[in-house]
Amino acid sequence: MSMGEGRGMTAIGYVHGYSDREARRLGDQAEVLAELLHTGTAYPPGSRVLEVGCGVGAQTVHLAANSPGARLVAVDVSESSLAQGRARVAAQVPGADVAWHRADLFDLPFPDAAFDHLFVCFVLEHLPDPRKALTALRRVLRPGGTLTVIEGDHGSAFFHPYSAHARAVIDGQARLQSAAGGNALIGRELQPLLNQAGYHDIVVRPLTVYTDRTRPALVNGFTRDTFIAVFESVRKDVLAAGLSTAADWDRGIADLHRTAAADGTFHYTFFKAVAVNPPPSPRS
Ligand SMILES: C[S@@+](CC[C@H](N)C(=O)[O-])C[C@H]1O[C@@H](n2cnc3c(N)ncnc32)[C@H](O)[C@@H]1O
Repeated sequence: MSMGEGRGMTAIGYVHGYSDREARRLGDQAEVLAELLHTGTAYPPGSRVLEVGCGVGAQTVHLAANSPGARLVAVDVSESSLAQGRARVAAQVPGADVAWHRADLFDLPFPDAAFDHLFVCFVLEHLPDPRKALTALRRVLRPGGTLTVIEGDHGSAFFHPYSAHARAVIDGQARLQSAAGGNALIGRELQPLLNQAGYHDIVVRPLTVYTDRTRPALVNGFTRDTFIAVFESVRKDVLAAGLSTAADWDRGIADLHRTAAADGTFHYTFFKAVAVNPPPSPRS
């Protein structure tokens, strides 16, 4: 399935695309980061929870496992991702109550205040107007309900040994994402975006991943298979856009791999925000 699957909807510029490799990467990423990202996120039985941009269900399995009894609804613009999500949840959390809908988050087919909680992970970074998205989502969230948003920020990546080529690879991918209308540095903006979109009681937590040889599962699962894999997958697009030369890019990728070697270290920060949808003001 190509990046054009969401045609007619708002996800045309989704920079990672919908390949099998990307589906595997999203699954690996969610597994290795599950404890870090999902700790503290559990919804009461009977609550109505909407996951927006669920992709291949990589986060949905954790939502379902951590909130037994919650009534989950998962939406995405990609039909093939939804099919993979349905299969993943059936295999990993049999009996979970999840309804799947193909829908654009800007035009959700649900009544006002239909949900008690919304969960949005790694979606805003791909949208040209994330504030508009957050504002639109308030319509389906009941007053007093919560929104949880998780995003990364490529500016938070630092590593040893330092390499200007590795830094240029990270910056090159961020520029490619910007050209597609997204923002790879969005994590640091969550608080002001949520504030501007009208949410209250916003709490943002930075969630750090640090890897070295004493954490081999994270070195493989995060540094290699999640982080570096993003850059390996966009090589063709970066070169086609003239954002790097093949020699510089390959040197940068090799240097990133050195940070996962025995004497290397790597740091990255995700940002997790929880905010409340306020009741309408009496004057509005
Ligand atoms: C990087 S994936 C993240 C998937 C999942 N949340 C996860 O963390 O594994 C981003 C997802 O957002 C979806 N998406 C992008 N724009 C969307 C929109 N306007 N409405 C609904 N989904 C959208 C894409 O199709 C893609 O599946």
